[in-house]
Amino acid sequence: MTDAAASPRPPLIRASGLTKRFGTLTAVDRLDIEVGPGEIFGLVGPDGAGKTTTLRMLCGLVDPDEGGAEIAGYDVRTHPDQVKDSIGYMAQRFGLYQDLTVDENMGFYADLFGISRAERQRLLPRLLEMTRMAPFRGRRAGALSGGMKQKLALMCTLLHRPRVLLLDEPTTGVDPVSRRDFWVILQQLAQEGIAILLTTAYLDEAERCGRVGLMHAGRLLRCAPPEELKREFRERGLMVRRVGATEAVRPEKPTLEDVFIAFVEHSAEEAR
Ligand SMILES: Nc1ncnc2c1ncn2[C@@H]1O[C@H](COP(=O)(O)OP(=O)(O)OP(=O)(O)O)[C@@H](O)[C@H]1O
Ligand SMILES: [Mg+2]
Repeated sequence: MTDAAASPRPPLIRASGLTKRFGTLTAVDRLDIEVGPGEIFGLVGPDGAGKTTTLRMLCGLVDPDEGGAEIAGYDVRTHPDQVKDSIGYMAQRFGLYQDLTVDENMGFYADLFGISRAERQRLLPRLLEMTRMAPFRGRRAGALSGGMKQKLALMCTLLHRPRVLLLDEPTTGVDPVSRRDFWVILQQLAQEGIAILLTTAYLDEAERCGRVGLMHAGRLLRCAPPEELKREFRERGLMVRRVGATEAVRPEKPTLEDVFIAFVEHSAEEAR
């Protein structure tokens, strides 16, 4: 996996000071993120942290109240068409047509993106092979397992060959085996130079990201490779109370979950 810091190539995703308010609630609070080609960046946080709102601003679906974002060098506000061409966005509830088959769903999205027949013939076999979905081409989307539905959604997202992938909780409700398959695919895509920003509520999954952004109540608390976050936890001698335990401990091998909980508690204390 390429670390953006080590890469001389400019970031494909850049957000600076990105802020969104809904009435008195600040859903996303001055968020700065950069994701380079070949990087998998995981935005991690509990329900309501502001993950979806962040992705929606990066796509240009929601206007920020402050700050801005660029995708592949294009300002999302002033160049929406170039941004749309550069981005594959898989929404938290991606719109598959349940009564259409795998092939028909892909055909629908290929039409929507204006993909030529020649390009389809080149791309479809590759996508079906990569996702191991070829045997299920004739199956209705509604009859697919959760993991297969997500793979189909990912294929539809990749049809216009985006350089940037924004995936909102792509593996929620997916069994562990399909989740691993899904990650193999993501790593292949990253190796091709695609920048991937995904959200997840699973901290074990976040371990697989090159860098992780810990998000809580609209704010990005930390942004670093998982190992670096754990090192900071150890060096600061932070404590955490694990589920079922009565007292906080200083774990020798902190998990990303320990790190996240400790940082959230610290930020709450600092805010007081
Ligand atoms: N259109 C909207 N109008 C009002 N409030 C909204 C709107 N969209 C999101 N919010 C609020 O903004 C906050 C952030 O929501 P968001 O959906 O971005 O969180 P999330 O991190 O994606 O959560 P989840 O893990 O549940 O998907 C929440 O408190 C949510 O209720
Ligand atoms: Mg969400």
